[in-house]
Amino acid sequence: MSFIILFIFLFNFAFCDEAGILNAQNQFLEESLTPYIHKHGSRLTHRSIRECHEEKIWLLPKKENCFVAINAGYFNTNDGECLGNVISDGRIAHDSKGIQNSHFGLTKDGQIFTGYVSEENVLSENMLQLVGGVIWILRNGTGFVNTSKNLECEKTEETGSMDRFVNIVSARSAVGHDKDGNVVFIQVDGKSDVDGINLYEMETLLQEFGLVNAINLDGGGSSTLVINGTTVNYPSDACDGQTYACDRKVSTILCVHHPYCNPRDCNKHGNCSMGECICEMNWLPPNCDQLFCSKTNCSNNGICTPEGCVCYPGFFGEDCSESCLNGWYGSMCTKQCECYNSVGCDPVNGTCKCKNGFMGDKCQHNCPTGFFGKNCLFMCRCNNSCYCDPVTGMCEIYANSSLYTAAKCLAMNIILEEDLIKNNIDEQRKWYLTMTILGVITGSCLASFILLMFCSCTCHCRNDQILCIKTERKHNPKYRLQVPGGYLSDSLSDSETVPMQSLTKS
Ligand SMILES: *[C@@H]1O[C@H](CO)[C@@H](O)[C@H](O)[C@H]1NC(C)=O
Ligand SMILES: *[C@@H]1O[C@H](CO)[C@@H](O)[C@H](O)[C@H]1NC(C)=O
Ligand SMILES: *[C@@H]1O[C@H](CO)[C@@H](O)[C@H](O)[C@H]1NC(C)=O
Ligand SMILES: *[C@@H]1O[C@H](CO)[C@@H](O)[C@H](O)[C@H]1NC(C)=O
Ligand SMILES: *[C@@H]1O[C@H](CO)[C@@H](O)[C@H](O)[C@H]1NC(C)=O
Ligand SMILES: *[C@@H]1O[C@H](CO)[C@@H](O)[C@H](O)[C@H]1NC(C)=O
Ligand SMILES: *[C@@H]1O[C@H](CO)[C@@H](O)[C@H](O)[C@H]1NC(C)=O
Ligand SMILES: *[C@@H]1O[C@H](CO)[C@@H](O)[C@H](O)[C@H]1NC(C)=O
Repeated sequence: MSFIILFIFLFNFAFCDEAGILNAQNQFLEESLTPYIHKHGSRLTHRSIRECHEEKIWLLPKKENCFVAINAGYFNTNDGECLGNVISDGRIAHDSKGIQNSHFGLTKDGQIFTGYVSEENVLSENMLQLVGGVIWILRNGTGFVNTSKNLECEKTEETGSMDRFVNIVSARSAVGHDKDGNVVFIQVDGKSDVDGINLYEMETLLQEFGLVNAINLDGGGSSTLVINGTTVNYPSDACDGQTYACDRKVSTILCVHHPYCNPRDCNKHGNCSMGECICEMNWLPPNCDQLFCSKTNCSNNGICTPEGCVCYPGFFGEDCSESCLNGWYGSMCTKQCECYNSVGCDPVNGTCKCKNGFMGDKCQHNCPTGFFGKNCLFMCRCNNSCYCDPVTGMCEIYANSSLYTAAKCLAMNIILEEDLIKNNIDEQRKWYLTMTILGVITGSCLASFILLMFCSCTCHCRNDQILCIKTERKHNPKYRLQVPGGYLSDSLSDSETVPMQSLTKS
């Protein structure tokens, strides 16, 4: 004979219609409530499609992390149907409809229930775990077998009359609690009519163990104790067609496990230990569902992942603090700008930033005549006689222009620059004419002087030109007069663009 005692936590129990359907008024209503010590999680499991399908106990630990499991309630050995009430994790898995047998359970408010349970009690939703046995062995520290065998229903067990059931030696399982509220599983090996103990002996044994309340669970071939996934007793049933013994599939199992975490898998970012998630690096307790990552981890320029920052396009570096180098853009700054006349491109989307005087999606176009500046959005204010610099918008003289044209341009610029005679058109014309004549005279004098002084100069003269000046030929040959001539020229800057529409309106 071997027995094992385990201090843990658990519950349950049910009975016969004739012997007494239990209700709140029933004279047999007896119960014992004791607060329990909550060190571990407990569970009553019942299985499957049809509730209370049979299962091998040793299979359970893997699924439910039980470190101790014992067979529990009675069941129909033909179809696996549970007998008695079964409430598992607050859910009614089997309702005995008031059949009265001893039950053991845990209530939601932290008490151990032992005794006869009314239908009202089953439906009250106060039970967390509840399972039925046959025979209330110990009640309030006193042997209760002689009393309970007359109260309970013998239909629930398949051994025979209640007297035979109580007196037969057999393998036994029981669940109870001590005075401190520790739940205890007791399992004794045996074989019906051959070896084991009867319930009076069980009563004495449990008293010796200091138990206060205990009920008898299913015994015989069902009596099985599993610790850490291994069956530790010697079940009495022979295996199919074999001489050695095998554990039987049972329909309800009491399971003790470490408290579960919420969620049980710690969001896959940690391990559950005694009900608490031990999170992986960078994941935050209590649930390991949030990364330890403040906004500053990625400099506000990226998103945090367990592997590090993933920078938004335009940024790179471990903490995304670096902008793309000039000439590069996009995700991880791996794309090269595709621009012709630019000062680089947008680090995020690669839009070309054109140099002043150029336009087009790749800055491949010069400004159209009459426009200048950033993205050619500015309108030149130069008259036909002047050349408008597409970069600065300055009105300049064409290298190939005649002296008269050049003087005209010069005159106009002076008028504009000095902001002379704003509205007086006559005055303007007078000035314009005067300046042009003066310009021509000055130009002629200068030309004569230069001709005299530098007879050997290289000239590019045209038939209609009097003036011949030695000049450096540039791409756009012109004399630099450096007179601001564009609209809004005084507010030109790299950072500023003025839409063409607003210019043309003004
Ligand atoms: C349980 O037994 C103790 C003495 O051992 C007694 O004082 C107490 O009243 C009993 N409780 C019930 C509910 O019978
Ligand atoms: C139980 O009842 C039997 C007789 O039916 C008696 O011999 C026995 O002493 C009783 N046991 C207890 C613990 O009262
Ligand atoms: C069950 O396993 C745990 C560790 O996995 C161990 O601490 C414990 O002692 C084992 N229990 C028994 C009864 O072997
Ligand atoms: C979780 O458990 C696994 C396997 O035991 C181990 O490799 C891992 O390091 C553990 N993780 C943490 C965060 O403790
Ligand atoms: C965020 O920054 C903190 C403090 O610098 C660091 O400990 C943590 O590992 C960082 N998180 C990630 C996800 O890299
Ligand atoms: C590219 O980004 C710049 C700056 O954020 C924005 O002004 C521009 O409209 C974007 N271009 C495209 C094509 O999305
Ligand atoms: C410049 O040309 C415009 C027309 O192109 C003309 O209306 C304006 O009077 C001219 N300004 C001067 C100063 O000649
Ligand atoms: C002066 O040269 C420019 C190009 O540099 C040309 O567009 C313009 O027609 C020329 N003007 C004259 C009067 O030849």
